[in-house]
Amino acid sequence: MVGIDIGSKSIKIIEATKSSNSWQLKTSGAIGFTGNSPEKMINEDEFIKAGELLKKMVNQIKITSKDVNVGLPERLVFSRVIKFPALTDEEIVSAIKWEAEQYIPIPLTEAVVQHLVLEKKEGSGEVLVLLVAAPKTVVEKYIKIVRLAGLNPISAETELVALSRSLAPPKGTSIILDLGANSTNMAIVKDTKVFFTRSIPVAGEAFTRAVAQGIGVSPEQAEEYKKTYGLSSSQLEGKVKNALDPVMRMVVDEVKKAIHFYQTEGQIDMPTSVVVTGGASFMPEIQTYLADLLGLETIIGDPFTRFHLDAETLKSLIQYTSYYGVATGLAIREE
Ligand SMILES: Nc1ncnc2c1ncn2[C@@H]1O[C@H](COP(=O)(O)OP(=O)(O)OP(=O)(O)O)[C@@H](O)[C@H]1O
Ligand SMILES: [Mg+2]
Repeated sequence: MVGIDIGSKSIKIIEATKSSNSWQLKTSGAIGFTGNSPEKMINEDEFIKAGELLKKMVNQIKITSKDVNVGLPERLVFSRVIKFPALTDEEIVSAIKWEAEQYIPIPLTEAVVQHLVLEKKEGSGEVLVLLVAAPKTVVEKYIKIVRLAGLNPISAETELVALSRSLAPPKGTSIILDLGANSTNMAIVKDTKVFFTRSIPVAGEAFTRAVAQGIGVSPEQAEEYKKTYGLSSSQLEGKVKNALDPVMRMVVDEVKKAIHFYQTEGQIDMPTSVVVTGGASFMPEIQTYLADLLGLETIIGDPFTRFHLDAETLKSLIQYTSYYGVATGLAIREE
């Protein structure tokens, strides 16, 4: 299948196929764009332009299938874990139908609702269900762009659900942290299932602004500094790091709050690692910075661990893996 991740600053595409239990990468591509992100598009012209950009890209990278799984931006989606008493799968479906309204801040008639059974507790039979609701208007806009590119959207998923597939360790509890341009998305995942999600509007662009203001340079210069020196305390006398520190701490605090919330909701296990991804995770020294402040092992996520890649592909992709977490997760959906 083809996974398409339309971010606020760039589009990423992955096409994957499976044979004898390992994944093959058919093709991949990424392109930056300026202008509105899809949910803000109103004019037909904007959609057509985005559709054409996508079409051009798809032709360039020569995808072979037209079937697409589309990513939906976490910041526009409501996700919640709900606890039900012992119910069968069918009963859960109808319970959600009747009860979803009270958990979702938008009318059900205007929402696309999906659910996923996370866990059936032994003994009590209690069932934990992840409920995801996206405004129909948002979903329609993303689908429209994909159709305009001549593709066939067959499903849509949130960014963190896709990332849980491509990046979550197969066993145990971890945090996935996607540092993009506009948003940082975080999930707590247990055995690859999403138990908590949160999206905050603090990410790569906020980091650049902080550097620009902190050291008094232009946005262009700040972007360069961010990419070159990042969170290093030795480079440029740690000036860039000092400028980034307050905004990075906002991210760190949200992660800590997420862990706290997860535990007050009755989960007893503590996340043991943080898997980071997204363009802003390329910042130098981010790994040690997060590991220090969170006291958790921090790993740069590799969405291609389940792939069989030839040496050449590996070489050309290795420096871009952090861009492809969402698109890869979308492309390897099997159910
Ligand atoms: N080498 C680098 N070092 C630091 N930051 C980087 C580097 N390369 C890219 N970035 C930052 O990554 C961000 C873009 O990341 P990404 O492509 O994941 O965003 P997006 O998916 O389009 O946005 P979003 O997910 O927020 O909608 C930009 O802010 C950019 O400055
Ligand atoms: Mg993104």
